Amino acid sequence: MKIFLITFIYLILAIGLNAQSFIMNPYGRDNTKLLNGKWNAIVDQYSRGEKKQFYLNQIATEDTKFLEYGFEGAMRLDVPGDFNSQYPELKYYEGDIWYQRYFEANKQNHKRSFIYFAGVSYEATVWLNGKKVGNHEGGFTPFQFEVTDLLKEGKNDIVVKVNNNRKKDRIPAMNFDWWNYGGILRDVFLVQTPDTFIRDYKIQLKKNEKKIISGYVQLDGAKLSQQVTVSIPELKIEKIVSTNNNGYASFEIKAKPKLWNPDSPKMYNVSIISEQKEQVKDEIGFRNISVNGDDILLNGEKVFLKGVNFHEEIPQRLGRAYSTADAAMIIEEVTALGCNFIRTAHYPQNEHIIRLAEKKGLMIWEEIPLWQGIDFKNPVVLDKAINMLREMIYRDKNRAGIIIWSVANETKPSNYRDKVLTDLINLAHELDDTRLVGAAFDNPRYDPETSTFNIKDDISKIVDVVGVNKYMGWYMPWPTDPSNIKWNVALDKPLIMTEFGCESLYGKIGDKDKAHSWSEDYQKDLYLKNLEMFKNIPNLSGTSPWVLFDFRSPYRCHPKNQEGWNRKGLISDKGQRKKAWFVMKNYYNNIDMK
Ligand code: GCU
Repeated sequence: MKIFLITFIYLILAIGLNAQSFIMNPYGRDNTKLLNGKWNAIVDQYSRGEKKQFYLNQIATEDTKFLEYGFEGAMRLDVPGDFNSQYPELKYYEGDIWYQRYFEANKQNHKRSFIYFAGVSYEATVWLNGKKVGNHEGGFTPFQFEVTDLLKEGKNDIVVKVNNNRKKDRIPAMNFDWWNYGGILRDVFLVQTPDTFIRDYKIQLKKNEKKIISGYVQLDGAKLSQQVTVSIPELKIEKIVSTNNNGYASFEIKAKPKLWNPDSPKMYNVSIISEQKEQVKDEIGFRNISVNGDDILLNGEKVFLKGVNFHEEIPQRLGRAYSTADAAMIIEEVTALGCNFIRTAHYPQNEHIIRLAEKKGLMIWEEIPLWQGIDFKNPVVLDKAINMLREMIYRDKNRAGIIIWSVANETKPSNYRDKVLTDLINLAHELDDTRLVGAAFDNPRYDPETSTFNIKDDISKIVDVVGVNKYMGWYMPWPTDPSNIKWNVALDKPLIMTEFGCESLYGKIGDKDKAHSWSEDYQKDLYLKNLEMFKNIPNLSGTSPWVLFDFRSPYRCHPKNQEGWNRKGLISDKGQRKKAWFVMKNYYNNIDMK
């Protein structure tokens, strides 16, 4: 117990020590400049760029000098976006790529300046005007660097070294069933603020309350004690709070907001205004989420999660999704399927997807990419997992759509893994007491003696919600008629079937009994059998088929059936709905939600 306590204190301290938390919601601020567009790029296959000082972006002027690199006239890459899908020769690239661009800045009316990255995979090192400003590891959460003293009036030169090598001590690690996209995947901002600015805020319903809005504001700068106004006009709220000498103020506001729910995802315009008249705008929904025995309750009412999984990928473009248009395409297909829930596999996806999903009334399971083979023995990996969890919860704590934070996917029980996941689950509750904490397990085992699935995994005892990934009829043949299979997994809490399904090629018909046919009929039959089996899961609170679209994966090497694609999509990579799509559509249309 003592070890555990020491570790837990370390965790909290670790968070405090490197709590360089990024600016909350750049999308809701004035005085931001998107640095998206065409950047110059150098493929640095042997990682010689730092030694060769690429970051200085020099031009040879002296007669006797010459340089063996240059950004002017180099490859051009779109930002945001993965580099793999922009040039055929980069399809499989893993290593260093250097990005560079110039941009104009006006320092006159602003005291402080930050460069904010919404997401770079997997590691970014950043220089501004030849000076290193910092680096960040983790491909799916924001980070920023203050550049107030380095930014020039007028022309500035930013250089970013991106690395997407897979490494044993990274998260995810050496292999994972999705494409190893690298690059500056998401939006990049120059954010300029007053000397003291609104760095962070949380505005949500207080846990288990429907008429108390609670939260906090956090200032950053010299004048930390000031009056800040939290305004929600539609609720006639103009709450003035006084921040303490750390710039922090918490509050509770009595109100009767219309509660957010899938059928009526009510959002309120919220503004936070400082004494310097800086204003941050957001759209916030108010709802409760809780567990009662083996039920999930939304605003006190039992809810069944009609879900689907998807990767952050646009199959037709062979690349990462990153824009509002991409989010619209994905979410439109989710709502067409009749869903009220999504699992953003297997990492925090970009804010455009999260915000649009919330606006469409979709509840969200969001997770950090602790996917299968993670090096849990390495304390550095624990620290990285803590950072990723902290950054995910920090970024999305105001998103009513998010109901579940998940800490792992299909990790194997061991003393090391159990301790890391226990720490992460406790940390998630520590950081946010308003949402549920889950994990996805593939280790329920079938006992042929009793025709029953059981689970032996201590972590399943301490999560609020158990996710089960079980591919009956695919990775495991049916041991008996689906209707005879019983489930005895975590009966004291809600169970979500977070992954099930199989592969099929759109247009391949017939052979409904042959797995190796890759036929739509085999997939359709497998779905019907799974839905039959689900009737016997007493604590089933949701289903989420794997997966909405066929997606790219180096795991999948069959020359005709896969060609580098995981074909478990309900929809093909060309956007064609397979027969199994209609099975799920019918299931969600007719399921009794109570
Ligand atoms: C696993 C895993 C997914 C993977 C899927 C599959 O359950 O969570 O990331 O793509 O199975 O094998 O297709």
